[in-house]
Amino acid sequence: MHANRFVKNHGPSIEYDLPRLEVLAHICEQVAGVTTARVLHADMPRQKVVYERLVLTEPMESKIDDLEIMSRVGRLLADMHTAEFTVTPDFSAEPYPLESLGIDQHDAKMLTEALPPGWFHSDFWHGNVFVLDVGNIVVIDPLPAAFMFSRKHILASGALDVAMMYMSLLLVHPLLKQFFLSAPPHMAAAEKFLMSYLEQRDACSKQIVTSLRRVIRCLAEIWVSKLSARLVWPICAAKRTLATKSILAMEKTEEWRKI
Ligand SMILES: Nc1ncnc2c1ncn2[C@@H]1O[C@H](COP(=O)(O)OP(=O)(O)O)[C@@H](O)[C@H]1O
Ligand SMILES: [Mg+2]
Repeated sequence: MHANRFVKNHGPSIEYDLPRLEVLAHICEQVAGVTTARVLHADMPRQKVVYERLVLTEPMESKIDDLEIMSRVGRLLADMHTAEFTVTPDFSAEPYPLESLGIDQHDAKMLTEALPPGWFHSDFWHGNVFVLDVGNIVVIDPLPAAFMFSRKHILASGALDVAMMYMSLLLVHPLLKQFFLSAPPHMAAAEKFLMSYLEQRDACSKQIVTSLRRVIRCLAEIWVSKLSARLVWPICAAKRTLATKSILAMEKTEEWRKI
């Protein structure tokens, strides 16, 4: 074992994962303040990727009360979404069809115009973002969970990564943590992230925010509906109850009551 390496088992999806990791590295090269774990070696027969080992002691969620950090993550994601890259034949040349997720056609059109398709992380939740000193961040694991997004897309409206992060800050936590979750600080963090992203993309209109909130709700519903396929019954039932409670709490907030 090498202390400076981190080995991850990717399983049979490794051949789809490697091009995504390459694109993320390319995006990070262009955006000051964001890095990712360098791929040192791909062991195809064993389906493992050897990464440089990073010190990832501060997941984004541990900084939930630091709104400046939440804002910074929003702004950096906006810069990542507008960075340049080439869509190789590994991926669909088409942007993610938002309607396929159950998003209303009008919202899909508006969001595609306001936040034109760019690089798509596809699993941009708080467990894949870490905070370094002075607010720089590390983004890892740009690989979609099969139950959320199809893996053939690397292009999408920025709305998808933003909605994923927002809903994960409220709903995606270990069971006990979710049980004791204090919604207000997580809502404040999610709102700060969302607004900072939109400001950075110069897309901060009331209509865009409203459409994005509907996307957040749509992804939250998908996430909750797929729990039963991933978890055993008692855990799934408990998670579903807690998630539903968090969605209701979210919808009762002043920001959400306007939609
Ligand atoms: N390059 C790395 N160096 C050190 N730790 C890592 C590295 N990559 C991942 N980790 C650790 O492993 C965890 C899971 O990694 P991740 O790539 O997100 O896998 P998955 O979500 O598929 O389990 C991370 O939360 C982090 O603690
Ligand atoms: Mg991960």
